[in-house]
Amino acid sequence: MNPEELIEKYYHQSPELKEILLTHSRQVRDRALRIVDRHPELQADRQFIEEAAMLHDIGIIFCDAPKIFCNGPHKYIEHGYLGAELLRKEGLPRHAGVAERHTGSGITLEQVIREELPLPEKDYCPQNVEEEIICYADKFYSKSHLNEEVDYRKVRHNIWRYGHEAIQRFDQWRQRFEPEAETTNSETGIG
Ligand SMILES: [Fe+2]
Repeated sequence: MNPEELIEKYYHQSPELKEILLTHSRQVRDRALRIVDRHPELQADRQFIEEAAMLHDIGIIFCDAPKIFCNGPHKYIEHGYLGAELLRKEGLPRHAGVAERHTGSGITLEQVIREELPLPEKDYCPQNVEEEIICYADKFYSKSHLNEEVDYRKVRHNIWRYGHEAIQRFDQWRQRFEPEAETTNSETGIG
């Protein structure tokens, strides 16, 4: 299956948005594949990651984010499960899982309820190593600042608003997926 063909099917009438989505998704895919190639011990499915990373944000077209040419009716945080619905309709339930569970470092059911998030009530934490790697890699690339990699400290700061458990998940991924990256002590206390 060719993920870019599927993107074309839904985004051909939104060329600016399509370009942003393709650029961002390729950045996430390339970082995720770098992790897979450096860490065979993770036993991640490379082919699946290559496809699913390209499709993880396919739901943004249904959301409202005019700065990146998204003019849909839904809140941006809904793009995960909306993308998942689209991918299930396309016969791609495994890819749908990646789309559904890639926001922040995962969102717990408890958080959905506590913060009254506009999401169907369930758990949105990544459930397998492929979902975890893509979720992690995604945090380093912003669609509003396409040409910059987000600094690790900034990524961690962004995740902080999802709470202590979210930071713990992210830190564990950092150690498993990019242990070779430098993490100084001064970077561990951001809040
Ligand atoms: Fe993304």
